[in-house]
Amino acid sequence: MSGGGEIDVKLPEEDEERRRQRKLEEALEVKSLRRIISAYLNYPEAAEEDVKRYEQSFRKLPPSHKALLSHYPLKFKKLRRCISMNSYFIFAMLQAFDPPLDMSQDMDICVDSHVSHTQYDNQSDGMNVCSGHSTSSSGRMCCSKADHANCNEQSKVVETANEMTTNEEEEAEGPIEYKTASCPGKLENREETNQSCSNDFTDSNGNASSPACDWLDPSIQLNVPLADVDKVRCIIRNIVRDWAAEGKTERDQCYKPILEELDALFPNRSKESPPACLVPGAGLGRLALEISRLGFISQGNEFSYYMMICSSFILNHTQTAGEWNIYPWIHSNCNSLSDSDQLRPVSIPDIHPASAGITEGFSMCGGDFVEVYSDPSQVGAWDAVVTCFFIDTAHNIVEYIEIISRILKDGGVWINLGPLLYHFADLYGQEDEMSIELSLEDVKRVALHYGFEFEKEKTIETTYTTNPRSMMQNRYFTAFWTMRKKSVTIVEQAAP
Ligand SMILES: C[S@@+](CC[C@H](N)C(=O)[O-])C[C@H]1O[C@@H](n2cnc3c(N)ncnc32)[C@H](O)[C@@H]1O
Repeated sequence: MSGGGEIDVKLPEEDEERRRQRKLEEALEVKSLRRIISAYLNYPEAAEEDVKRYEQSFRKLPPSHKALLSHYPLKFKKLRRCISMNSYFIFAMLQAFDPPLDMSQDMDICVDSHVSHTQYDNQSDGMNVCSGHSTSSSGRMCCSKADHANCNEQSKVVETANEMTTNEEEEAEGPIEYKTASCPGKLENREETNQSCSNDFTDSNGNASSPACDWLDPSIQLNVPLADVDKVRCIIRNIVRDWAAEGKTERDQCYKPILEELDALFPNRSKESPPACLVPGAGLGRLALEISRLGFISQGNEFSYYMMICSSFILNHTQTAGEWNIYPWIHSNCNSLSDSDQLRPVSIPDIHPASAGITEGFSMCGGDFVEVYSDPSQVGAWDAVVTCFFIDTAHNIVEYIEIISRILKDGGVWINLGPLLYHFADLYGQEDEMSIELSLEDVKRVALHYGFEFEKEKTIETTYTTNPRSMMQNRYFTAFWTMRKKSVTIVEQAAP
């Protein structure tokens, strides 16, 4: 007993070790989230650097050439205005974000260098944003390497749950909540805790004020590599894919066949007991939302904070369709048909998510698919699993297929659309990064082993986050299939 009358409790060594490890993991996750926020905040500066480079090149031109391009100074001015508008949107998004972690944590925590390096530093944004499917308009792969989710059970599961009644008469109008949940698959609800900050943003006209959220304070932001800021640019392109009228053609190519298939496979959906559908790697959430609109309990799973920050903003905080104008195509001068094409605004969102007729139980669950859905509570929990441009994000695709099979009910369906552009395929020099890269033939064979049988299979041609007006349009010939999980008895009979 200490002199002050307090009882000294000596924790068992193991508990203390576990507590220390948890604190360490949380501190690392805060660091990772801080880096992502910094990447978002670094966007204007990095974009300005690009414009300065364009200006430098322009200045080097001989006068006769300059005279031919006399409109260029005006273009640079317009570019700056577009950057400023994008930055305004980004800042509003950050202000609305309610970090699921205590961002005030002491970041000087002594981090074990091995743990730090192998588990976190290489993945310090926690996530892959464009996941290898996105190409910049210059043709380079954009954000092609996946970073792991920094997921632990306490803090890595972030759910957005829509707990509003959404029948025809009473459409959802209120905010969709963000919350941390300890039990990922459960579609829990809780009181609104989202506290938006009242920070103002320095816009292009110099109207400035200091941030009210401590975690947005510029003085604690990190200087991040340009590659991180590139991920922010990728997110902007993903916004077009999911939430702009311009992305409709791409959504019709990728999401429509999936939605039609779900609609046909679950013809007698009841409001009282809707079928449950999981969308791993849900990106910015449009597919999961459309599935919810179809009358499913829909859960998107996503491990990228880049994505989650943005999807939360669009799902929870947009007030009306067309509320924002962004300029997604300004970051590349390549393959542009005209300056006005490059500088065109894109209005988002194309629909107001909160009044889009969502089925009760719609949620976004943050965390690594493997970690979250390996939980025993997930066994046989889902009527359908939908993977769109997702299965090739795996270190071990066999593990993904095994989990998909395990979490489906007997007779449940797995609908897939996507290529096999394995995200970890080219991680040269990082020997401990595992990557199993199966051919489509082998993927199908593994699926059969885990009790699936094919109901439908075809190839669908599509783009991914492509500028529809670019002179370069990368196309994928994606594998689309519907597989059904055979009932256990059939699987057992089939086993040798
Ligand atoms: C290529 S994107 C596709 C996004 C969306 N399905 C679409 O079609 O637009 C792949 C997504 O999977 C996410 N992702 C990758 N690995 C993941 C994992 N292990 N668990 C959860 N999400 C993951 C990435 O962050 C990314 O948002």
